[in-house]
Amino acid sequence: MNATRQQTEQELVFEMIEVVEVSHAESCSAMDIERVVCDKDPATLGDSGCLAMLSPSHRIVITIDGPAGTGKSSVARALARQLGLDFLDTGAMYRAAAAICIDNKIDLADKAAVVARTAAADLHFDWTRDPPTILAHGQPIDHRIRHKDVTEVVSPLASIKELREHMVRKQRIIGQQHPRLVTEGRDQGSVVFPDAAVKFYLDASPDVRARRRAEQMVAMGSAADLGTITAEILERDRSDSSRTDGPLMCPSDAICVDTSDLNFQQVVDALHRHVLAVVGR
Ligand code: DC
Repeated sequence: MNATRQQTEQELVFEMIEVVEVSHAESCSAMDIERVVCDKDPATLGDSGCLAMLSPSHRIVITIDGPAGTGKSSVARALARQLGLDFLDTGAMYRAAAAICIDNKIDLADKAAVVARTAAADLHFDWTRDPPTILAHGQPIDHRIRHKDVTEVVSPLASIKELREHMVRKQRIIGQQHPRLVTEGRDQGSVVFPDAAVKFYLDASPDVRARRRAEQMVAMGSAADLGTITAEILERDRSDSSRTDGPLMCPSDAICVDTSDLNFQQVVDALHRHVLAVVGR
């Protein structure tokens, strides 16, 4: 278990755990074990509203699903921070798989090769970072995963059944190792964590999502054509919703939030209030 110790700027001591015991009913290969774990010091959880009253060992998984451009990632990260929970970006895992396959010239139509190459990269997160950095072969790959070539192929790649099974298994292991978690994706409430304490589904009209994406691109100095972005968003919606395994869907027990007319902080506050209402019940 115990390996290295390191000091952060805040002088917190984190324990790096080599392999965490997994009592999951499913069998999983050593490759699947999430290896870099950094447990947050409960003393840092401070201003967490009702959650501070719960024991730090109390399991609380919050899922946020929804289509591209609803701000899930930023909202999930901000909510996790406000509540003192860990944050998991599962889209980063599928993006990392796409980046690895492109960079290793894997034929994306060869499903077995895609899964084997992804498994060999031993994807896991460095939880000492905020947000946690995704690693492949032990090296950060976060700088690569939002490139255009990755975005173009990730949705069809995420429809590969065996790849999804691999990712779902990894995400459940992460859920065991980080039982106080805000996790976002497309299938987190519906497939990966059906027993999550609170489930959200964020939505917004395609026009609003395209406009937000265009604003982001312009802010990053890129050219943005609203028509093209809208078409890409609609195509990803179609691809993510129509696949057989883990399709994008609103779980029946999720709280659906239309973010079209809300700003970022209003969305975070709305979710925060819901969580406290549910946990405080
Ligand atoms: O949220 P994102 O744009 O980073 O997701 C990238 C792609 O991965 C997107 O096409 C949907 C897919 N994805 C998925 O199928 N299941 C998840 N849990 C997360 C993302």
